[in-house]
Amino acid sequence: MKTILFNFKTYVDFDSTIKLANRIGKIRTKHRLIIAPPTLFIHALSVVLNSKKVELCAQDFDYQESYGAHTGDVLIEDLKDLGCRYVLIGHSEVRNRKDPHKGDSEELVGIKTRMCLKNGLTPVLCFGEKHEEKEAGIAKAVISRQLDTALDGISRKKRRGIIFAYEPVWALSSTAGARRCDVGYAERMAVHARKVVGCGRGAVLYGGSVDKDNITDYISNRRLDGVLVGRAGTDLKSLGRIAGLL
Ligand code: 13P
Repeated sequence: MKTILFNFKTYVDFDSTIKLANRIGKIRTKHRLIIAPPTLFIHALSVVLNSKKVELCAQDFDYQESYGAHTGDVLIEDLKDLGCRYVLIGHSEVRNRKDPHKGDSEELVGIKTRMCLKNGLTPVLCFGEKHEEKEAGIAKAVISRQLDTALDGISRKKRRGIIFAYEPVWALSSTAGARRCDVGYAERMAVHARKVVGCGRGAVLYGGSVDKDNITDYISNRRLDGVLVGRAGTDLKSLGRIAGLL
């Protein structure tokens, strides 16, 4: 069984989110299906997906210890109450938010990872190098640094409760001039990440321009435990094609 996580990002409005979720709910597969909808639609999806075997993931939350005077913030406790079991942590679009005060630092990624574990939510910890880092030959060093910082102070045992997601920034469909990430390359980075994490096998997913033409290559690789699907999962026709392959 592999994990297929659909990250809708903010590609979709409310109506489309419901339609896509209903379509995903109809997929008959041995794989684990997870949807990360826009935060505001999580509650509606928890109702829509109630009886279906599709799980919910939040795309992010705000760093606050608990309830209080935090106008506009999203609290991890509420995500849990709404039925989320997973949270994306350290997605490159969150790390690299344009407003410099809003992008998550590597330290904050670590804090959020620990908050997830403390609150009984599974962090889906995203990591991956940028194009210039790959070109400079430091992809593995960047990955090691991102993971070491995020996992600082987290025991080997607790690390087993984390899902890791290798998402090279240069391969995301939203990156200008995005390139396809070769399955062999993704596999090597997943193997490297497992060594850095150091807790045995550990689940490592791949994300970056996964679509109907390549999803089978990634999910049939024995060292990749599944995929994150971004843009290709936010269009009913393209989603239908992907569904047919699962
Ligand atoms: P794309 O599939 O659009 O490249 O997005 C991948 C992603 O960021 C999943 O989290």
